Amino acid sequence: MPGAIYAEGLVKTFGDVKALDGVDLDVPEGTVLGLLGPNGAGKTTAVRCLTTLLRPDSGKLLVAGLDVLKQPNEVRRSIGLSGQFAAVDEYLTGRENLQMVGQLYQMKAKAAKARADQLLDQFNLADAADRTAKTYSGGMRRRLDLAAALVVSPPVMFMDEPTTGLDPRNRQMLWEVIKQLVSGGTTLLLTTQYLEEADHLAHDIAVVDHGRVIARGTSDQLKARTGGERVEVVVHERDHIAIASEVLLGFGKGDTTVEEHTRKLTVPVTGGAKLLAEVIRELDSRGIEIDDIGLRRPTLDDVFLSLTGHLAEEKAEDNGTDTNQTPKDRKQKKEAAK
Ligand SMILES: Nc1ncnc2c1ncn2[C@@H]1O[C@H](COP(=O)(O)OP(=O)(O)OP(=O)(O)O)[C@@H](O)[C@H]1O
Ligand SMILES: [Mg+2]
Repeated sequence: MPGAIYAEGLVKTFGDVKALDGVDLDVPEGTVLGLLGPNGAGKTTAVRCLTTLLRPDSGKLLVAGLDVLKQPNEVRRSIGLSGQFAAVDEYLTGRENLQMVGQLYQMKAKAAKARADQLLDQFNLADAADRTAKTYSGGMRRRLDLAAALVVSPPVMFMDEPTTGLDPRNRQMLWEVIKQLVSGGTTLLLTTQYLEEADHLAHDIAVVDHGRVIARGTSDQLKARTGGERVEVVVHERDHIAIASEVLLGFGKGDTTVEEHTRKLTVPVTGGAKLLAEVIRELDSRGIEIDDIGLRRPTLDDVFLSLTGHLAEEKAEDNGTDTNQTPKDRKQKKEAAK
């Protein structure tokens, strides 16, 4: 049975641009799907198609069991949306914005006011509640827009980059709000640029690029595909980059990336702190002075780089079993593919 959000073969073109090129998604009820991808990947377009704002060229779309193309009004009544760009009324105060949404959903005036107060509090906007939204900062507008999407509690929610532009405290606050929502049974599709965010919130992640889903799985599964942690080293002397790179290659599970201007080298590893200590000893024994060294988890950039690499190989070999390749094999193939 399809989940609370379901897309099959979703295609949308804008002139020559194939914004969505056959996307399949299936989000089980009461779970969070993180849609991850770089700028222009097609995330917003997918959200707009699923929320009835944009008509796709083709594809089957179901939201809350309703056919998005055939029953758009019913779908609209079952969903909440917080778009990428805050859609608040500039000339109303924060409180009025929220009350208006409540009234649009036929709440009684008193209930709409109580709900608005509650959300203003929760979203740290109580102090600014009676100022017009045009005096709000970017992060405040964003929060007001998110609060507006939560005035009623629809069974299915869409949030397009909800935390972009929020400071760490408010980002944390929103994560808590989202966790509460989901524990209450809401199904959520959330787009984000941050793997860390998907990590905290999403049960499943779909990575999109050029309008296609290029990988899906849990955060742990994606990171494992990316080769676990990274050792990052900043060497003191530019002249030591080459030799440090050689050392890291010996410890790494993949290619070393080098940022010349910052003298920073990064390599995927498995083995954690123990391995880090070995790397330090080896660099030291070769007389390489280090400004900074550390172990970090993969970023979206790492996942993405590694996934697009994999994708090219899978296409070339068409068997998808490339896990036994050495980094050198992969590098050669990547070069050959250029
Ligand atoms: N209304 C439109 N007219 C023409 N092209 C569009 C339109 N909307 C989106 N596109 C194009 O479709 C592609 C996907 O855009 P989309 O906004 O879905 O990306 P995104 O993944 O949300 O990116 P971002 O991270 O920057 O928000 C891009 O190439 C974009 O230029
Ligand atoms: Mg977008």
